[in-house]
Amino acid sequence: MSPFQITRTLPEHATDAALRDDVLHGLTATPRTLPPKWFYDARGSELFEQITELPEYYPTRAEREILVDRAVDIAAAAGARTLVELGSGSSEKTRYLIDALSGLHTYVPVDVSESALTQAGKALAAERPGLAVHALIADFTGDLVLPDTPGPRLVAFLGGTIGNLLPAERAAFLSSLRALLAPGDMLLLGTDLVKDEEVLVRAYDDAAGVTAAFNKNVLAVIDRELGADFDADAFDHVALWDAEREWIEMRLRSRTAQTVKVPALGLAVDFAAGEDLRTEVSAKFRKEGVRRELASAGLELTHWWTDAAGRFAVSLSTAG
Ligand code: AVJ
Repeated sequence: MSPFQITRTLPEHATDAALRDDVLHGLTATPRTLPPKWFYDARGSELFEQITELPEYYPTRAEREILVDRAVDIAAAAGARTLVELGSGSSEKTRYLIDALSGLHTYVPVDVSESALTQAGKALAAERPGLAVHALIADFTGDLVLPDTPGPRLVAFLGGTIGNLLPAERAAFLSSLRALLAPGDMLLLGTDLVKDEEVLVRAYDDAAGVTAAFNKNVLAVIDRELGADFDADAFDHVALWDAEREWIEMRLRSRTAQTVKVPALGLAVDFAAGEDLRTEVSAKFRKEGVRRELASAGLELTHWWTDAAGRFAVSLSTAG
């Protein structure tokens, strides 16, 4: 059994404060918005797991195909002794990388969910004798402090989650990530790619209605955490493609004119019939755009792998 350590860099009540702040600002903004990170309570995480198995939702399978087929190439190019994974969750897809990185000394999974980190981290430490696991309870969009572990480091940010950040947020995120890296360190980034509108929209509006339930779950989170009286049945799930900005938007569309109360914030929010609340942006990328965004943050794209169908990409870039 290898060493397993867990460090909390997220203050105990930081999550509550951030939720209040996001809900207050988002529900009083025009148009109304909520950040997608609040989907993922226990129920939301379970619904997301179900989404990854839907026939319409290709990104998880496409990215897994790349990692399975290219793990050896990725490991050879990165030669990492420390693997940091942002938003590690169950660390399911990372096992291919861990197994391929022969000189790996420490795995650093980073997640806001302590239970996911403990479960995945302990399992990995048991499976991989000799691998140190140092889990971080942290919000990777905030200031991250990495443990002092041997380099070179490979930071993996998979799943296409970077697409859930708005362009300005992505630029800030990539720059702060770059600041954590030393020369020779690398970033492994998963990005979903621009493709046929119909395929994209169906991936976010599946026939079984799992994504609709996932989208509406954010209302249940706000009801529970802030005492709000959102009625999920009073909203319709909407997924639409913004061709100009090349992103999918998920929205909740108010079926009627209604007022929602959020007692913890002393707020009453009026929705007009047909008014939308934007709950997620999921940007889709092209190679040149990824190269440009990385370069703006001081990272040089060195490798670009896609699945056979060209739906999803995993790129490697270096902190030169
Ligand atoms: C996998 C977290 C990036 O944008 O595709 C799935 C989450 N949202 N269905 C994505 C999601 C709706 C998602 N991430």
